Amino acid sequence: MTTATAAGVGTVRLLPQTRALRALHTVMRDRHAGRDEFVTSSGRVIRQLIETALDLLPFEPREVCTPVGRTYRGLRMTPHICGVSVLRAGDSMESELRAIAPGVRIGKILIQRDKVTKLPHLYYAALPADIDRRHVLLLDPMLATGGTALAAIEVLLGQGVEEDAIVFVTLLSSPEGIKAVHERHPRVRIVTSAVEERLNENAYMIPGIGDFGDRYFGTD
Ligand code: URA
Repeated sequence: MTTATAAGVGTVRLLPQTRALRALHTVMRDRHAGRDEFVTSSGRVIRQLIETALDLLPFEPREVCTPVGRTYRGLRMTPHICGVSVLRAGDSMESELRAIAPGVRIGKILIQRDKVTKLPHLYYAALPADIDRRHVLLLDPMLATGGTALAAIEVLLGQGVEEDAIVFVTLLSSPEGIKAVHERHPRVRIVTSAVEERLNENAYMIPGIGDFGDRYFGTD
């Protein structure tokens, strides 16, 4: 899937809308789902998102010898990757990335909207020192207005990361958020499991899942 914006064309990789994926979404979106169910089903979708995002990164040829003595001409993913989670909800995606890529470096960014100006404000960033030489999976389960995503992307670009080295991995996305990211950064790729109808007046996605962080961490 591509999005056309004033600035150009951006890539959105939407997970195949299989029945198994829809079943996981049905649990997550159910307002009566318990916390365990929510965590388990969102974790399973996040795992698929991360596998899909990794497939967008460079691979190099690698040959191995099989147990029956034949050569298998395979691939090895670039080792130059890292994750960057956007706190707090992005924390939920770290464990899935670690399970797939043990030992992966993980940075963190905390951005919150200023109560007065309503603009995103950067409170904290801890990133690998050589992040400019890595492909970055930027992890935030919700792409709503795009304000936080844009602020996080600016932090990465400020550290010398190339725009096309960033893959934004997000569980739910809104058309407004995708447009905002791709208007400013058309070469940032987005991987998502659903594109929602739109935002409501409180900037929640609809049909949506409510507040992801509250439901995942049990703070609602
Ligand atoms: N953040 C959320 O947790 N949910 C939304 O719908 C939008 C932003």
